[in-house]
Amino acid sequence: MLLNKDKFPVHIGFIMDGNGRWAQKKGLPRTFGHKEGAQAFRRILKYCYEIGIKNVTFYAFSTENWSRPKAEVDAIMTLFNDYLDEAGDFSDKKDARLIFLGDKAPFSPDMRQKMIELEKVSENNDAMNVAIAVNYGGRDDIVYAVRSVVKMIREGFVKDEDINEELITSLLYTKNMPDVDLVIRPSGEKRLSNFMIWQSAYAEFYYTDVLWPDFTPNELDKALNDFAQRNRRFGGV
Ligand code: FPP
Repeated sequence: MLLNKDKFPVHIGFIMDGNGRWAQKKGLPRTFGHKEGAQAFRRILKYCYEIGIKNVTFYAFSTENWSRPKAEVDAIMTLFNDYLDEAGDFSDKKDARLIFLGDKAPFSPDMRQKMIELEKVSENNDAMNVAIAVNYGGRDDIVYAVRSVVKMIREGFVKDEDINEELITSLLYTKNMPDVDLVIRPSGEKRLSNFMIWQSAYAEFYYTDVLWPDFTPNELDKALNDFAQRNRRFGGV
């Protein structure tokens, strides 16, 4: 499909939804859907890199997802861990920077270590920011920023009057990335589900009935062409 690169979003957020339904439709356990979902994640990340999207965030696991049955949580963690093991091989995305959004505390020490190392080895890469939101919640993101503000005030680094949008933005998990301007949600749902609520204040929302495991580069092209035609007014006229 023909794409207008001048009208690319600077930051796409993907809410990877519909894995469970994809599997159920095929009479398979939900975990099969997550496995295919992880493949879709690889496919779409690779495509975003190839066409030159500068910032992408994939919502992999929310602060609320821990309430799912243990077997399902374990299956998602295994898939995520598999990705952590392969992500250090930057052969197909040499100059991409990896960032994990969310509180890393609940993960195993081993997984935590891998995330920290991947962030460290890729921190000077500047072709693309790849963020994976795990144990992420938009509200939690803001709570974390507020805690940082309180700490800075207590330690005398900032004054009350220094608190503004810029300061809060700089303290969010996404501090290294620009605001998200396109949120893509497959599987027909039309909700944000606690995804980047601060950063998506002016984002365009795109949804499709396609389930995430079936999401292809062609589907992304459709979303990009749709985005290119939106008239973004940012509260103006
Ligand atoms: C939402 O679909 C999906 C999740 C909660 C998990 C997403 C996880 C992956 C794609 C795999 C691991 C991630 C990486 C980065 C390798 P759902 O289960 O809510 O689907 P449903 O609404 O159809 O039930």
